[in-house]
Amino acid sequence: MMHLGWFFTTGFGVYGWNQPWSGNVASDVGRPDLFVDAAKSLERAGFDYIMLEDSSVLSDVYRGTFESSVRRGTTVRFDPMPLVPLMAAATERIGIIATVATTFYPPFLAARLMSTLDHLTQGRVGINLVTASADGAAQNYGLPKQIEHDLRYEMADEWVDVVSQLWDSWDEDALVLDPESGVFADHEKIHKIDFEGKYYSSRGPLNVPRGPQGHPVICQAGGSPAGRAFGAKHADTIIANVRGLDAMKEYREDISRRLIEYGRKPDDVKVLFLVSPIMADTDDEAAVKRDRMREVQKNNIDGILSAMSYFSSTDFSQFDIDAPVPDLTQYNGHQSTLADMAKTGKTLREIVANYPTTESMELVGTAETVAETMIEAMDFIGGDGFLIASPVTRKVISEISDGLAPALRRRGAIRDGYSRTTFRENLAAF
Ligand SMILES: Cc1cc2nc3c(=O)[nH]c(=O)nc-3n(C[C@H](O)[C@H](O)[C@H](O)COP(=O)(O)O)c2cc1C
Repeated sequence: MMHLGWFFTTGFGVYGWNQPWSGNVASDVGRPDLFVDAAKSLERAGFDYIMLEDSSVLSDVYRGTFESSVRRGTTVRFDPMPLVPLMAAATERIGIIATVATTFYPPFLAARLMSTLDHLTQGRVGINLVTASADGAAQNYGLPKQIEHDLRYEMADEWVDVVSQLWDSWDEDALVLDPESGVFADHEKIHKIDFEGKYYSSRGPLNVPRGPQGHPVICQAGGSPAGRAFGAKHADTIIANVRGLDAMKEYREDISRRLIEYGRKPDDVKVLFLVSPIMADTDDEAAVKRDRMREVQKNNIDGILSAMSYFSSTDFSQFDIDAPVPDLTQYNGHQSTLADMAKTGKTLREIVANYPTTESMELVGTAETVAETMIEAMDFIGGDGFLIASPVTRKVISEISDGLAPALRRRGAIRDGYSRTTFRENLAAF
């Protein structure tokens, strides 16, 4: 069986602005309804989790203005954390992952927040750990610019250590809850951590009892060697955007090797690959739809250059669009992505035309065709599932949860209901 997740690619943001099928997008801004509806639909479909992206900057890198950031609402981000209990309250089993930038969140604040959410959701919260890349975000938190790429991961490693120790600062049996004796908790089972690291320190313990999961599920998406090592060491689920079946298989094998190096088992981590299925009533109709969507993308040069400028903190309007893209590895953003672009020797225009933001492999056809292709791919790769990153509208969510998921279930490829209680247990169930 395969695991399924849904990736809200712009977090608690604005989806489908000025697009067909996007409902009351203007009056829905900042409202939880779309996300709550999605959680209910995707739980019905048997998804393991929903992942909410996040960032904390309104970018003006591209052309030095906020225009491309706000014209379609693309970089508006509400804080995803308050959305988590609202989505959880409307559902019973699906996991909800929110993104935290280790570079900006003090470890104690994050440990306490996630532990609180673990209680509120009855064991269904996860944390997507990113180190963040944009200089503008770093400046919002008072840093002069973003910290160097590999140092961010070194710091993140220590960050996870502190946060984990804080989560463990209450023993599993610390809560007594005995009305006879009147004792709430056993103080001898609650410990200071007295963490003194190179970058962080914290006394502990948490002033919150251990949550139902103990440690919320950790999700991670690093592509660089430092990012992959961090994921293999700490993550329970890794989300990957690598291109093509061979690269997907190589990625899963690389993560398995790294897990063994850290004394973990390959099955301890579920690797989900990014896809964005394009479906219609017939295979031919789906192909036409795909071609139309690619054409729109090809013409959205400004939008894509603006996205690239944002994540690399490099103004792409300065480069000749018809010259090969310069070597960008000196830049400090999402390193693996930039290195991949420079390696191709293609011009910026060619890169933009083929910019597959959310696809490890193409999935086009009827729900039945797409389901078959997904099953064949998983057999070839050896696990573990897919992270759907389709454009968000209720219509698209319904295509996946009421079309694709049943087609997968009929073939025995996804779960039929949840066998366990917590998100962590359900993720580990197969
Ligand atoms: C599916 C996926 C989701 C991601 N979500 C976020 C996010 O929410 N916030 C963020 O700052 N970066 C996000 N990233 C970027 C990664 O954290 C990471 O920086 C990127 O994959 C490049 O890898 P590297 O950091 O190892 O160079 C995401 C990447 C992928 C592939």
